[in-house]
Amino acid sequence: MKHSELIKLLGEMSLEEKIGQMCQLVPDFLGKTGELTGPLGHFVLNGNETKLLGSVLNANGAENVMKLQDEFMKNHPHNIPLLFMMDVINGYETIFPIPLAQGCSFEPELAKEGAQVASKEAAAEGIAVTFSPMADMVTDARWGRVMETPSEDKLLNYLFAKAMVEGYQGDDLTKKGNIGACIKHFAGYGAPEGGKEYYNCEISERTFMEDYLTGYKGAIDAGVTMAMTSFNSLNRIPSTANEWLMKKVLREQLGFDGVLISDWAAVGELVNHTIAQDEAQAAELSVNASVDIDMMTLCYSHNLSKLVEEGRITIEQIDECTLRILELKNKLGLFENPYKDASVEDEKKLILCDEHRQKARKAAAKTMVLLKNDDKILPLDLNKSTAFMGPYADNRQIYGAWSWVDNENAIKTVREIAGERNIKVSFAKGSTVLGAKNRVKSYTEQMTEQEENKLLEETIELAKCSEQVVLFVGEYRLQSGEASSRTDIELPKIQQKLIDEVSKVNDNVVLVVFAGRPLVLTDLLPKVKSVLYAWFPGTEGANALMDILTGEQSPSAKLSISFPRCSSQCPVSYRSFSTGRPSDANAEFNYASGYIDCPITPLLPFGYGLTYTDFEISKVTLSGNTMTENDTITATVTVTNTGGREGEQVVQLYVQDVKASVIRPTRELKAFKKIKLSAGESAQVELSVSEEMLRFYTRDMSFKSEKGLFRVYVGFDSTTDNFAEFSLV
Ligand code: NOJ
Repeated sequence: MKHSELIKLLGEMSLEEKIGQMCQLVPDFLGKTGELTGPLGHFVLNGNETKLLGSVLNANGAENVMKLQDEFMKNHPHNIPLLFMMDVINGYETIFPIPLAQGCSFEPELAKEGAQVASKEAAAEGIAVTFSPMADMVTDARWGRVMETPSEDKLLNYLFAKAMVEGYQGDDLTKKGNIGACIKHFAGYGAPEGGKEYYNCEISERTFMEDYLTGYKGAIDAGVTMAMTSFNSLNRIPSTANEWLMKKVLREQLGFDGVLISDWAAVGELVNHTIAQDEAQAAELSVNASVDIDMMTLCYSHNLSKLVEEGRITIEQIDECTLRILELKNKLGLFENPYKDASVEDEKKLILCDEHRQKARKAAAKTMVLLKNDDKILPLDLNKSTAFMGPYADNRQIYGAWSWVDNENAIKTVREIAGERNIKVSFAKGSTVLGAKNRVKSYTEQMTEQEENKLLEETIELAKCSEQVVLFVGEYRLQSGEASSRTDIELPKIQQKLIDEVSKVNDNVVLVVFAGRPLVLTDLLPKVKSVLYAWFPGTEGANALMDILTGEQSPSAKLSISFPRCSSQCPVSYRSFSTGRPSDANAEFNYASGYIDCPITPLLPFGYGLTYTDFEISKVTLSGNTMTENDTITATVTVTNTGGREGEQVVQLYVQDVKASVIRPTRELKAFKKIKLSAGESAQVELSVSEEMLRFYTRDMSFKSEKGLFRVYVGFDSTTDNFAEFSLV
């Protein structure tokens, strides 16, 4: 449709129709009026509400979506198609590793490929927009949704959000297999006080502008079609009602011109936030903040017409919102093709097809981080008697919190994959995931303490007579994710006991950890020879894991988030600041920044991860020792694979602004390159630094660089001391 036709359509629509476009409900409402029953019982629908609806979330299945669309359009006065949206986060049915794991690949292209697979499957099922990517910056692993972000680092967040949007949307949304993306959650949701879910986030303007916005900007730079408001309040103003945040920052400063949707019920929640006295005021505040769609409340549909009548909001505001929504429908080609790509045939062809599974398997192998590997116990020597143990050795629930399309049968367990590959190993379950006394949502496995003890005894016996043991442990899949913040981010107690007991009787223990967040591994690391962090790797996780354990694939991932030493050390990040009293690891006791009972540094730093081979790096050299505003400086290192097999390494460049008008992080990731070298091979790696990379919010809040000395670190993780200096003149 031409823009002029859209304007004409808008002109013909009644106020009620326009308001309809601004409402989103689940499909249960379609064709219904009056009071609903069940969990949706508090919704009372008046007259035309569902007849004029603009969009639906969580309807899927080609046949179902096409039928809903047919019925709906028939009854709509202007036959405006519905827009179907859904949370397709790390895959639709072919589940990829959780976003945080994907960040560890340091390969945004991998995330792009995953997003392409997801969009093809979702599009075939009739979905036109996904509520992804999430780019909330998080440095506190207690927050449950840390699993949904690629990294604690703003550069990685930028690159991954951009890549994912490119993957979902392609270059033309009308093309088959491309769907719209929605950047979320705007903004600052990843910084709630103490990691408490949905809580207020106090972030200074400088930190917010400089660090927190970067990830969202990645998606906007890639042309993301939608943005979602966050549940939290930012500096005590709930995002959904924050006019400054949505109009000034999102739309003006970042240049976002797409559709802004509230998070689920977030408009109505403005009353709970205690900034709106009733639903009418909640609707008024949200429209004033330019929130185009109200997801899952009736605040807009019940109140907007009256608010216009009373002059509390204007018809121009309604028109603006409606036009943005119509424009999105048009971009997706829905006026010509209301089913978008829904196709029963494509569903059969694409969902969980071999190509998608292969890509998911590759991605999973590239996201598992090798944290320790003493005596090079990995890859496994399968000539030794080997036992696979632990609650995840034969468990399908390795797919993370957002994989809610029913796909468990598509997943094989580690035990099944070992069987398929004729790998000779013995098995013992060791323990349940959470133990008898734990109560976590949806967790059903029940065992008496007696049964648990028996299981443990059998497992210890097997460990005694095995030359080596691989222990598959981890969080329960819903211990991380939305509404799953924790004060204690250790492994469940029952599994800690299992590790203790097994490691007492066997010196050759490899730990494989499934998790949605960095867990505290401080006491566990010394007890075992090797730790492979598998995250929640998805549909092909067990296959990928076996590829790594057997050495068919080498681990190459690096931590995209710091691992704390204990839960109360959160938040922790490599981007720390100097203080007036810097901590000195060698001093016995002094008045230094930090704690008296725990070092200030993380247990495992950002950027860290081992491979099956060894690498050496030369001293970094710079192309010059001064740089002007229009120059770049090139940092060069030679990297050599000194080990016995091929491997990949991520060469990372960090910059420190040595003196500035405000304190600057002691180092910040500015560039990286992933290289592959065969045994004995060397390569020269060049990474550039430009003036633009040195900009920050200065003392007077202008975004620019300041002249002076800079230090450039190049190494294999964020603690490298390989540096050289230059001056910006
Ligand atoms: C709430 C979550 O915060 C958001 O990420 C998600 O997209 C919506 N629900 C819709 O399911």
